[in-house]
Amino acid sequence: MKIDLTGKITLVTGGPGGIGESIVRHLAACGATVAIHFSKNAEHAKKLMEEAGNDSKSFHADLSEPKNAVKLFNDVLDAYERVDVLVNNAGVYIKSPNDEKIDEWLATWNRTIAINLTAAGVLCREAINNFKKHDGGRIIHIASRAAFRGDYEDYFAYAASKGGMVALSKTIARAYGKHNIKSFVVAPGFVRTPIVDEYIKEHGSASIMKELSLVELTTPEDVAPTVVFLASGLMDHATGCSIDINAASYVR
Ligand SMILES: NC(=O)c1ccc[n+]([C@@H]2O[C@H](COP(=O)([O-])OP(=O)(O)OC[C@H]3O[C@@H](n4cnc5c(N)ncnc54)[C@H](OP(=O)(O)O)[C@@H]3O)[C@@H](O)[C@H]2O)c1
Repeated sequence: MKIDLTGKITLVTGGPGGIGESIVRHLAACGATVAIHFSKNAEHAKKLMEEAGNDSKSFHADLSEPKNAVKLFNDVLDAYERVDVLVNNAGVYIKSPNDEKIDEWLATWNRTIAINLTAAGVLCREAINNFKKHDGGRIIHIASRAAFRGDYEDYFAYAASKGGMVALSKTIARAYGKHNIKSFVVAPGFVRTPIVDEYIKEHGSASIMKELSLVELTTPEDVAPTVVFLASGLMDHATGCSIDINAASYVR
């Protein structure tokens, strides 16, 4: 079996991040043209874009203001005229203890929901409106084990944002199948990337390893191939599903 994504326009948010860069590389290796979104990491996005080839380009948007997602999508349309696959990958994982002052707690809650869920929802809206104008499309949401198992005590907002993402994906799958639009969730457990640096610094990687059934911590390369497979169309009849990649740390 060979996956050929030549000519497919794929928008990956959070492209320069740990999981994002692996997704970009794997999609590009299968021939896809990747619209690489970044917020701060312009240099890395540029480097990735050059490596990816296939007329891939980078696009800036700070998704903590979710309306910027509309401009992001329009910028991608200006460059390529359509999008075939959206990968909602950008996200933050911010500690927020429940004894924090309410203003700080709410600031983290609002920022997390804005980036992880609201901006993803806006991009889905834009993508669906574009997919309906051509022959459909696929959306892949990088959610989390936290959506199904729940998260640790200091991460209420993160778990809530990812739970919302799962409900969003199921709704799209059910509502837009007849428009040839498919929606999937990939739900990783701990993956060694910068997003978990603070947690690992505080708790150590041994506490994470204890939860896994495998002997190695999951890496972005354990996540990205599933995204390519979902993007390819080979999994279309699994639309609405969530795929766990958590080294059996939580088996549903
Ligand atoms: N690593 C894990 O253990 C794990 C587990 C389950 C789920 N996930 C999910 O996987 C996804 C990717 O995470 P990762 O592990 O690759 O983390 P990461 O390396 O920290 O990457 C996060 C990405 O999100 C982008 N981002 C952050 N703030 C943003 C903002 N305000 N506006 C737009 N983009 C923003 C970053 O862009 P810039 O670099 O340009 O700022 C970065 O590319 C996230 O949705 C995360 O929740 C991760």
